[in-house]
Amino acid sequence: MTAKLLDGKALAEQIQQEIALEATAFRARTGVTPCLAAVLIGDDPASDVYVRNKRRDCERAGLTSQLHRHDGAMSEAELLALVERLNADAAVHGILVQLPLPRHINTARVLEAVDPLKDVDAFHPENVGRIVQGQPRFLPCTPYGVIELLRRNDVALAGAHAVILGRSDIVGKPLANMLVQRGLDATVTVCHSRTRYLPELTRLADVLIAAIGQPKFVTAAMVKPGAVVIDVGINRTDAGLVGDVDFSSVSEVALLITPVPGGVGPLTRAMLLKNTLTAAELQSQKR
Ligand code: GUN
Repeated sequence: MTAKLLDGKALAEQIQQEIALEATAFRARTGVTPCLAAVLIGDDPASDVYVRNKRRDCERAGLTSQLHRHDGAMSEAELLALVERLNADAAVHGILVQLPLPRHINTARVLEAVDPLKDVDAFHPENVGRIVQGQPRFLPCTPYGVIELLRRNDVALAGAHAVILGRSDIVGKPLANMLVQRGLDATVTVCHSRTRYLPELTRLADVLIAAIGQPKFVTAAMVKPGAVVIDVGINRTDAGLVGDVDFSSVSEVALLITPVPGGVGPLTRAMLLKNTLTAAELQSQKR
């Protein structure tokens, strides 16, 4: 292996410690402890693990959390009523509705019901619009984590060509919008399942970000020697957790590479804490 590892786990721990200090200062100033309310519907095992880890992180950073867990038969109207209650509850600063929701529930309608000031996922259309216009209130956790990982490892983005594999609302689209903003100044190409000449495009990337949910999709032949490779994929296979990047071959050509697990995942969770603290700050200013 020639590439250097981008250690997301160590960086996430450092960011969590920073947030713990900020949360202590916020509490001293306002008497308020930031609180995240997680909403988990159904029994998806992966969602279960994510939510458990998110709550444990809150506890470690001195934030509080609530879990609102309901079985998969909960109706959309009941879920909307729960969101309204959490919107109105002054003790709750951040609301996270864990996705995916059961199929009978309209996800867009639920995400739009969350108070934009409590929208720590940055999924509400108002917050998405603010990101596009360069006036973000919150940044979505995974793209925010990717950018912190690059920034704190001194990866130069200005003028660099970032190629994103995947156009999801959670990662690909917001990340593309963030990287082209003034201040970050990357040149961005977004590729997806219908993209032609994919390997030719990925080989142009100074920074290649894989977020397509296909195990080991990115091979060494798709990567320019010396590129920075960020693997957002978390695929559960018989061989365990695997990213979207074929780590063993790509680490022979890349300059920097994230492992899976221990790369982007821990940072996603750290940025959720950051957003919960930001939400508490926004709400303390509102009152
Ligand atoms: N499911 C997968 N990723 C996410 C995320 O970032 N936020 C929420 N709420 N659900 C998810």
